Amino acid sequence: MSNSSAISSRFHVSERRVRLSSKAQGSWLRGVRAQRTLAGGVSSGLRRSAQPFPLYFKKGRGARLWDVDDNEYVDYMLGWGPLILGHAPQQVNRALNEHLLLGHTFGAQHDLEFEVSELLTQMIPCADSVAYANSGTEIVQVALRLARAFTSRERYLKFEGHYHGWDDSVLISYHPTEEELRQFGDNPVSAGAGQRSGVAPLVAQWNDRKGVEQMFAQHGEEIAAVICEPLLCNSGCIAPEPGFLEFLRDITRRYGTLLIFDEVITGFRLAPGGAQQYYGVTPDLATYAKAVGAGLPLSVLAGRAEYMEMIASGKVVHAGTLNGNPLALAAAKAALETLAADNGAVYSRMWELGNRLRDGVVSRLRESQIPVIATGGGPVFQVLLQTEMPHTYRDILLADKALYVDFAVSMLDEGVTLLQDGRWYLSTAHDEQALQDTLRAVDRVLC
Ligand SMILES: Cc1ncc(COP(=O)(O)O)c(C=O)c1O
Repeated sequence: MSNSSAISSRFHVSERRVRLSSKAQGSWLRGVRAQRTLAGGVSSGLRRSAQPFPLYFKKGRGARLWDVDDNEYVDYMLGWGPLILGHAPQQVNRALNEHLLLGHTFGAQHDLEFEVSELLTQMIPCADSVAYANSGTEIVQVALRLARAFTSRERYLKFEGHYHGWDDSVLISYHPTEEELRQFGDNPVSAGAGQRSGVAPLVAQWNDRKGVEQMFAQHGEEIAAVICEPLLCNSGCIAPEPGFLEFLRDITRRYGTLLIFDEVITGFRLAPGGAQQYYGVTPDLATYAKAVGAGLPLSVLAGRAEYMEMIASGKVVHAGTLNGNPLALAAAKAALETLAADNGAVYSRMWELGNRLRDGVVSRLRESQIPVIATGGGPVFQVLLQTEMPHTYRDILLADKALYVDFAVSMLDEGVTLLQDGRWYLSTAHDEQALQDTLRAVDRVLC
């Protein structure tokens, strides 16, 4: 028996899968029904692979979730990140109730539009003004179009392992497998069938200054933008090495290229002003989604006036029927006011609790002889079953992903929902009780 299967048999994972299947019968039956008429039985492809099968939920409150079979969970998926205030927070509920009765969308102007843009420009360092859309995928496209228009250049540079939505132009070299890396080397790799090739981006390795310098030396005059997740949350929560974001800031300025931080995850999560406040590096443009809507569909482009002027004047087309709808903006206003209150006081608690949770999980796994490290911290961290600290996407290919899925399935059986890729999201609703319940669940999984 391999080391990893010996460990996973210690989680009693096969017994747990059987037990979960019986106590989550309602979910199983719904999954079978959904698959008849809903492609893959899920609404977003990534949810299809959830083990032992996708669960159906009926209620979320604060840090907790209930499935249709009345099983209760402490939740660290948080809807894949948006629920920075937890499930159904009262202040967001109140705002939604009030606006629900006043109309769902106007396709025209209303006060919440400037009330929220005023809040955003106070909170985000690079924001002289903002523009709204509905999803992270859309807003990244607006940012790239703006960069192309401003620089009159076509290409952009991205980093392997970074996710910027599912559009053909950016879903490239996201999670190439070892096999694909052998086949394509350092060339861009599409993620799925049917993607247009178009103008391929330049793809660099995260934290690799030399690689970026070489690309600029060869193609600098063609590069409209460099886009990155300032903390690489989608591939192992890999932090920028000290000075790396400053280096990107400097080289983009030298070449007249725009620097875009994709803060769809880090925005309003690491700090009230996102990663740019947390790391102290100000990009030209930044994109937000997830936490800014606290669970409602809203995305935001923020930038310096000289760039945003191209949208203001209509030179760069930015459109969308539901852009800036009152329900999403009512939720955003309530959430942003809560997050900004008392100079962002909620963040110190989230960081303290999240770090204690991360350390508690890691020390327990380590005491059980499971090779483990953690990256990130506080409001978003990653548990990786490997021994080396990662610096690039390729470094996390070493992690024992199958063993982590077994761990996550075992935690589910013990009443804790985890994203099965190793990411943990915290909200302001997570408290000492949630933390203690979670660590006790880890103890039971490992006993
Ligand atoms: C960093 C980043 N950018 C963009 C996106 C795309 O956002 P959406 O799923 O709202 O289209 C995501 C989604 O996970 C993301 O994590």
